Amino acid sequence: MKRPLLIDTDPGVDDALALLMAFAHPDVDVVALTIAAGNVGLEHTTANALRLLEWIGCDVPVHAGAARPLVRPAEDAAFVHGRNGFGDTGLSRSRDGVAALHAASAICDYAQRHEGRLELVMLGPLTNLALALHLDPALPRRIARLVVMGGAVTGRGNTSRLPVEFNIGFDPEAAHVAFESFDRIELVDWEATLRHGLDLAEFEAWLAEGGKIADAYRSISVATRRFMLERRGDRWHAADALAMAVALEPEGVVASAGRALRICLDGELTRGATLVDWDRRGGHPEQCRIVLQYEESRWRRLLRTALRLDAKP
Ligand code: BDR
Ligand code: CA
Repeated sequence: MKRPLLIDTDPGVDDALALLMAFAHPDVDVVALTIAAGNVGLEHTTANALRLLEWIGCDVPVHAGAARPLVRPAEDAAFVHGRNGFGDTGLSRSRDGVAALHAASAICDYAQRHEGRLELVMLGPLTNLALALHLDPALPRRIARLVVMGGAVTGRGNTSRLPVEFNIGFDPEAAHVAFESFDRIELVDWEATLRHGLDLAEFEAWLAEGGKIADAYRSISVATRRFMLERRGDRWHAADALAMAVALEPEGVVASAGRALRICLDGELTRGATLVDWDRRGGHPEQCRIVLQYEESRWRRLLRTALRLDAKP
């Protein structure tokens, strides 16, 4: 029987690759997408999810969720992903078809429908999950796994608040609620993402192999690839796809560390930082399994399959 997977996402160029990876995988059944604001506004992230489903001819429910962080407004990441989140390309018109239920309610609903089996993968700010936890505090007991892309576990972030990673920095209060509620979180942070960069020229050669999906992905990622080349050198980093690889094939994790992690909620430069008790001094429960290294060959295979360049894994 396939494993039920629910993906909360704010597409987003790297979210798109993660979604393509999940839909290509034979072991999971993606039961729904729940959508957050983050990389760009909710209207765009929702339209992008629908657009992506249209490319692959898939019809899972899309539930729009939080349009803003729980407490304080936050800046988006349009400078990386384009103003519409998909590189300002309008590859195809999105269909109408947003499901009626709010994303937070949908998370609770699917967790009950697949009690004890649902695997939840969070690829954006944790706002919908925090709202779901308010609706159903028993949620952590209902789901089988929680995989989160977020954080910078030794303080090398990717936002203007230097130690802060985007997903956590966008909504620190939501992250706080989530990280204090779950006692088992598989975490893929920004620093793991940096360690799993691909050679950009090679990634571009993959995209040039062509096909409907690779062509679509090449088109939405033009601006992001240019941004990476200018800002980060010759590596292609795909944070959400790495988190999805961990979610889909956790046996590919070759090094990880169990530690307590807490969210910093204040400070001009530190709001949204993820503070890890590396030396185990604080006595807080060790709720995070921090992924340090993922098997290289498996990572590359899953990426190529996401782009439909090879047969399914
Ligand atoms: C995360 O932030 C977003 O911009 C990406 O989609 C990813 O989820 C990386 O920090
Ligand atoms: Ca994302």
